[in-house]
Formats: sequence, C-alpha cells, structure tokens
Amino acid sequence: MWDFTSPRKVIFGEDALEYLAEESFNNAFIVTDPTMKKLHLIKVEEQLKKSNTKITVFDEIPGEPTLQVVQKGAKILAEIQPDVIIALGGGSVMDAAKGMWPMWASPEDGLDAIEGLHFAEKLDIRKKTNCILINIPTTSGTGSEATWAAVLTDESKTVDRKASMGNRELVADLIILDPILIKTLPAHLIAGTGLDALCHAIDGYLTTYRNDISDALVRHAFKLCWENLPIAFEQAKNSEIDLELREKLQIAATIAGWGFSNSQIILSHSLAHSAGSVFKIPHSDCIGPMCWYSLMYNKDTEPQRIADLARLAGLEGASDEELSVKLINAYRKFLIKLEFPLSLKDMGVTREQYETNRESLIDFALNDSGNLSNPRPVDYEDIEKIFEYVFEGKEIDF
Ligand SMILES: NC(=O)c1ccc[n+]([C@@H]2O[C@H](COP(=O)([O-])OP(=O)(O)OC[C@H]3O[C@@H](n4cnc5c(N)ncnc54)[C@H](O)[C@@H]3O)[C@@H](O)[C@H]2O)c1
Ligand SMILES: [Fe+2]
Repeated sequence: MWDFTSPRKVIFGEDALEYLAEESFNNAFIVTDPTMKKLHLIKVEEQLKKSNTKITVFDEIPGEPTLQVVQKGAKILAEIQPDVIIALGGGSVMDAAKGMWPMWASPEDGLDAIEGLHFAEKLDIRKKTNCILINIPTTSGTGSEATWAAVLTDESKTVDRKASMGNRELVADLIILDPILIKTLPAHLIAGTGLDALCHAIDGYLTTYRNDISDALVRHAFKLCWENLPIAFEQAKNSEIDLELREKLQIAATIAGWGFSNSQIILSHSLAHSAGSVFKIPHSDCIGPMCWYSLMYNKDTEPQRIADLARLAGLEGASDEELSVKLINAYRKFLIKLEFPLSLKDMGVTREQYETNRESLIDFALNDSGNLSNPRPVDYEDIEKIFEYVFEGKEIDF
C-alpha cells in the first residue's frame, strides 16, 4: 500500500495572486521575511484587502529557520486565531509556517509538537485550528510549497543541527505560483534554488521509495530544470528577465517537491543538511555540489536510472553504464556553468574547521532521513570517506 499526498489546489500563471481575493478570508496570518516584506508583501495585502480580511504579519523568519522562531510565531497564532496562514517567501518561510501550525494546535507539547512529528500521525490540525495553509513561494527551488516536510534548525544544541520533520497533514491547501514574485530573484539565487529543485528531481528518481506517480513528476521537473536553468542564470547575470522561462523553473520546483515528498530524498540531502548546519552554508549553496557526490556514490547501484536521466538531458550512449558516466560528467559541467564550487574547501571551509567538526558532520549526515532511502547503503565509514572527498573536491572512486 502506498500513500501519495498532494496539495489540494495549485493556481499558477500571470495574475495568480488575484485568486486570493476570491477566497474571502476573515483573519489572515502572513508569515514572511524582511526582504519579502520590502519586495512583495504589499501585493498579497492588496488582494486580501479586497475582501476586508484582517491581516497580521510576522516578518521575522531568518534564512534556514530555527525551532525558536517557530515557537514565537506559534504563540502569536494562538493569540490571533486566524482562519488562514499565508506563507510568503522561500523555503525558510514556508518551513517555518509549517512548523508553527502544529505547535499552535498542540501547545501542551511544546517543541515536541514538531520535533516528535511522525509523517503518518493523526494531528487533526485543520479541525483543531479551523485554519488552512496557503503557500506562496518566491524562490524556485525547495518545493516546500508542495511538500509536507519542514527543515528546521535547533539552536539550543552546541552545534546547530538541522532536522527534517513532517506530517502529511501539513501539505498546503492552496499553492499560488505568480511569476511576478520571481522577477526579483538575482542570478545566484536562481542558480542555487534551481539546483535544489533539480536535485529534488534527481533524488526523487533514484530513491528506493520511488513509485510511478512520483516518477512522472520528477522526470518532467528534471527536464525543465536541465533545459532552462543555465539560460535563466545567464540572462539574470545580464539583467535580462524572460518571465516565461522563469515560470518553467517555478513550476519545475513545485512539481519536483510534489514528487520527492512522496518518494523521499537521498544521500545528497543528508550531506547538504549536515554540511549546511555545521558550516552555516545556505541549502541552495551546498545541495548542488553534494548531489554530484551522491550521483557518483550511487552510480554502480543505479546505472539504469541515472542513464534515464542522461537520456532526458539529451545525452547519447551505447549502454546504461556509459550514459550514467556521461550524466555525472555533464552534471559537473552544469555546476561549473552556474559558477558553483565543487568542494567544501572551495566553499570557504578550512581544514581546521573541517577536522574540528568532523564528528558532528558524520553524525548528522548518518542520522538524516535521506540515508534511509539511498539506493546504495551508507554506514559510518562510508560517510567519513565521502566527506573527505567532498572536502577536497575529489571524484568518488569507491
Ligand atoms: N520543506 C522542504 O521540503 C524543503 C526542501 C528543500 C529545502 N528546504 C529548506 O528551505 C530553506 C531554503 O529555502 P530557499 O532556498 O527558498 O531560501 P530562503 O527562503 O532561505 O531565501 C533565501 C534568500 O532569498 C531571498 N528571496 C526569496 N525570494 C526572493 C525573491 N523573489 N527575490 C529576491 N530575494 C528573494 C530571501 O529573502 C532570503 O534572503 C532551507 O532551510 C532548506 O533546508 C525545505
Ligand atoms: Fe533540497
């Protein structure tokens, strides 16, 4: 038996934000960050005001959000009792909103309300809160708008640790994809968040929990990202905006999230979550390179699936083995084209920082959920060795 969970409705395309006015909410709680407050909040408020919705804005979400900020938002939710939570921002904002909701619903559980969340647990969250969730992504990357997972950092530990948590009830009631919101994305964010979407598609296709529905979504997302990301990046560097092309990446990110959240992530994300939290590297800066190592590590276990991706990328070869090598090499060039460093060393991590944090790095990656569904088994020694290669930028040869 398999459970495939999807958002209830997706509104996309030009003027999609106007749909907000049609829904007539009474009391909206908008979760956002300071940059989105400056750039785009007014567009959402304008629509809500058309139906005289009362609005409260919580704009304190930092990049890579913490359990602590989520706790603060949950307290305000309990005070104002909204009928809709609107997350306006990138993955950080949407994940924070997803964390606040169950904490508001079960205040007696404190941080356990989210730390102990199990994906299939019955929360009855809509009934308990009389509220729904709308995700309005402003990056084209995480796919968090369509997933039921959230990645939150616990700052109370000696070394900050990122933990993925989730529950199927946290999937959005409504997703609004309006291209006007992604017009302001700078080149580096287009590249990094686009790589995140591409890696969700790759992970979602290689995972051991893959299924025919997720395959359909992630294969198309892969193709859209592969074909459009380098062009969008080059254009953005030259201050050109081809909104139709950016829209392709916006949709790709959503459907990649939709797919992988129903088939899971793999080693690339275990490495990225761990390195990201230990060395404070934003997810969009480290997931792309980590995926290259994950592809190399999994190559001999999944040559057929990696060859499928190569065919989607337009590569040709006589065998699956040849094609999978070609895809891995093409992916490396793809990263270089997007001006991404390939190693932790080139991301600015020193040998001393690496050695000091090695145990946490291995421990966090080993215990990340991405390992459970990785096609090739991963143990302590493997992770230790992989990270040494990741630090130096060496091709995996074991
Ligand atoms: N829940 C999931 O399924 C899932 C999946 C992957 C990643 N994540 C998590 O999502 C977080 C990262 O999210 P992200 O990559 O979207 O970045 P982000 O939300 O942290 O945003 C990065 C920066 O971009 C800015 N920004 C956002 N939209 C913009 C726009 N339209 N124009 C200009 N600037 C804009 C933000 O203000 C912020 O400064 C990480 O914590 C990561 O672990 C979650
Ligand atoms: Fe990701």
